[in-house]
Amino acid sequence: MAEKFNRATFTRNFLKNITRIKAPDEMLAEAKAQGLEKTLGVMDLIILGVGAIIGSGIFAVVGIAAAGAADGSSIGAGPALVVSMIIAAIACIFSALCYSEFATMIPVAGGAYTYTFATLGEFAAWMVGWVLMLEYAIGFIAVACAWSNHFIQFLAGFEKVLPSWLAHPPLWLTSDPFTVSALRAEDPSISVPTILGVPVCINVPAILIVLLITCILVKGTKDSAKMAGIMVFIKLAVIALFILVGAFYVRPENWVPFAPNGVEGIFAGAFLIFFAYIGFDALATAAEECKNPQKDLPIGIIGSLLITTIVYVLVALVLTGLQNTSGTVSLDFLKAPMAYCMTLVHQNWAAGLISIGSLAGLTSVLLVLQMASTRILFAMSRDHFISARFQKIHPKFKTPALLTWTVGGLAVIGILTLNLNVAAELCNYGTFTSFIIVCVAVLILRHTDPNRERPFKVPFSPVTPALGIICCGGLMIYKSMQSSGSALLFPAWLGIGAIIYLLYGFIKNRNNENKIHRELVHEKINKQEVKK
Ligand code: ALA
Repeated sequence: MAEKFNRATFTRNFLKNITRIKAPDEMLAEAKAQGLEKTLGVMDLIILGVGAIIGSGIFAVVGIAAAGAADGSSIGAGPALVVSMIIAAIACIFSALCYSEFATMIPVAGGAYTYTFATLGEFAAWMVGWVLMLEYAIGFIAVACAWSNHFIQFLAGFEKVLPSWLAHPPLWLTSDPFTVSALRAEDPSISVPTILGVPVCINVPAILIVLLITCILVKGTKDSAKMAGIMVFIKLAVIALFILVGAFYVRPENWVPFAPNGVEGIFAGAFLIFFAYIGFDALATAAEECKNPQKDLPIGIIGSLLITTIVYVLVALVLTGLQNTSGTVSLDFLKAPMAYCMTLVHQNWAAGLISIGSLAGLTSVLLVLQMASTRILFAMSRDHFISARFQKIHPKFKTPALLTWTVGGLAVIGILTLNLNVAAELCNYGTFTSFIIVCVAVLILRHTDPNRERPFKVPFSPVTPALGIICCGGLMIYKSMQSSGSALLFPAWLGIGAIIYLLYGFIKNRNNENKIHRELVHEKINKQEVKK
């Protein structure tokens, strides 16, 4: 009987602990005491937002979204790419409005992770933090490798002036082991050093860019925003160049037929191009470093999404007007569509500038993704899920330096070991899940804490958050039905996260609660002794 009672008590306590909610006021008080420097204004936020969003999506993925994948794994939208882009933007805007409500109400580091802790409790918060690592940390690794590919293409453009080892470096020094193994299966003459029969691949450019970004972020958030500003200016300038030069060569007959693969092609394009919008949510993770989050964050989040949508729609119109996307296209179009279209109309000088712009674009995406990863882990450390050592702020630079270096180090390990195609797909799953959770969390907090001050309110709630859930959930289900590897790996990732929580995060939190309890008891005893 006694044992039954204990088990029941244990279950009750366990459930109470894993659904423990952290009050928004407690979060605000902690953030106030901690001291991340408040340096970001509205322009910094828009720059960081556009910096995070415009990257490999528009410089590379857009070609496949328009014309379909070379291996037939995905069909293209054709000129209706512009419709796909608007559909993806609409799916994002619902979530962006929900992010804005939370970011202004609880402007502390951590984004979706923090909002979940305030609404769904400890276990759900840990899982969201774990899933966000897919979006930001795994996304960071995938974009670093895309950067490396673009850099190699850029170097090859200088083959007449550079020594050949630099213009065409060996594959094993510029690629990941999975890509190299796949290429060697097709062409066994590709030489790669091996250790015990295992190919050794070190993607040197990707590792160097990760280390450089880590140094910049350690040095300071304001400097990082400045650096992102320069990158954003360069990439917007080359995109404007593409639109202005390309507009003169558009052939309207390329826009017919408008949707060669019908509605299915449009949705396939919308799913793929969704990747191009990922990043606006990263702004919410830097809320604690904003000078005036209540006013500036919604402008930053929604403003950067709107600017990007306009840019993307113009690019889609020009791109599909220059290249007929209804039939077979060149592989070069699929790799670097904008630069290829410029060579198609004999504007090679513009093609060269566009490849510089794409490097700048990817660099700014890297800056924001790594910053977002560290800010989420920072919030998780504050909540005793990971070691308190990670909360240490650099005395001079006022940034979480140890955490930033740790994320940089882990990214290097990821570059050396991960299958990047799977990593990119997992990044999409992480993003969909976090968007859905934020929409759900807005609905819950409106119900559980209706009187809390909301400087920004999602219009037409509950319809808007519900539409966000339907759009993101629909795209996620669509993807799950199509892909194999990542569709299985995502639940595996969730399972591993749950096990780590039970064996580490849960225990760490309880130990911390016991410590606080002991301290309170000591304090009480001391006070009583002083009275005596
Ligand atoms: N939106 C980012 C990109 O396109 C992730 O690279």
